[in-house]
Amino acid sequence: MAGYLVEDVRKVTTCRLMEMKQQGKKIAMLTSYDYTMSRIVDEAGVDVILVGDSASNVMAGNTTTLPITLEQMIYHATSVVRGVKRALVVCDMPFGSYQVNPTEGVTNAIRIMKESGCDALKLEGGIEVADTVKAILAAGIPVMGHLGLTPQSINKFGTYAVRAKEEAEARKLLSDAHLLEEAGCFGLVLEKVPAKLAAQVASKLTIPIIGIGAGSQVDGQVLVIHDMLGLNNGFSPKFLRRYADLHTVMTDAIGQYVTDVKQVNFPNADEQY
Ligand code: KIV
Repeated sequence: MAGYLVEDVRKVTTCRLMEMKQQGKKIAMLTSYDYTMSRIVDEAGVDVILVGDSASNVMAGNTTTLPITLEQMIYHATSVVRGVKRALVVCDMPFGSYQVNPTEGVTNAIRIMKESGCDALKLEGGIEVADTVKAILAAGIPVMGHLGLTPQSINKFGTYAVRAKEEAEARKLLSDAHLLEEAGCFGLVLEKVPAKLAAQVASKLTIPIIGIGAGSQVDGQVLVIHDMLGLNNGFSPKFLRRYADLHTVMTDAIGQYVTDVKQVNFPNADEQY
């Protein structure tokens, strides 16, 4: 395996993530939505691949995560699973697929697991979805929670600003985090919350806390792959580090191809039969 800092080449499980937290080993998580990208992400040593409903934004061009459907998430997750050997594959349950009631949530959770072959699911929210989380767990499906900025509730929040800066919201977040751990979640994503609060959650909970815009004192980090590879150069939140400028690399390569075709530089004598 050509991975970076991969000490353990075994398939990552939810138990392995718990061991990593206990051993103080950080967890690297990235989103991915298709087969080819997922092969690269897996070979590079990422521990957890999230088939995020951010596919709605970066793959489909929507302004929010709300429009993506259950069928579309299953399509993305199925493609990702085909490309992955080592990473744990977690699929987001899309907006509307688990908020109505626990029975509908379990039915849709089983569909995603059965049809895509992914390893676990992620749901947004705390006490509001606790019964559904418990029902999905009771069906034998591992669940990851997601608190802080929960993009499926953007119309309620009205803004993508940092969450839980005020005492009351911070207290609710901490209580929701404990609730999700007690319900049996194997991990928790904390999005766009103060670093101090995220550190507090990570130190109080035994399950791994994965941050995005939540500082370094958590058990792992997650980013949207299009953002960290610089494919999406119109999005520059403070928490984002760009590890490449693929927008420029791809535009230059495609521009060169266009020039070569127009100037009859491609194909050359060696590139034909
Ligand atoms: O959908 C997604 O990409 C996510 C991450 C931002 C955690 O939920």
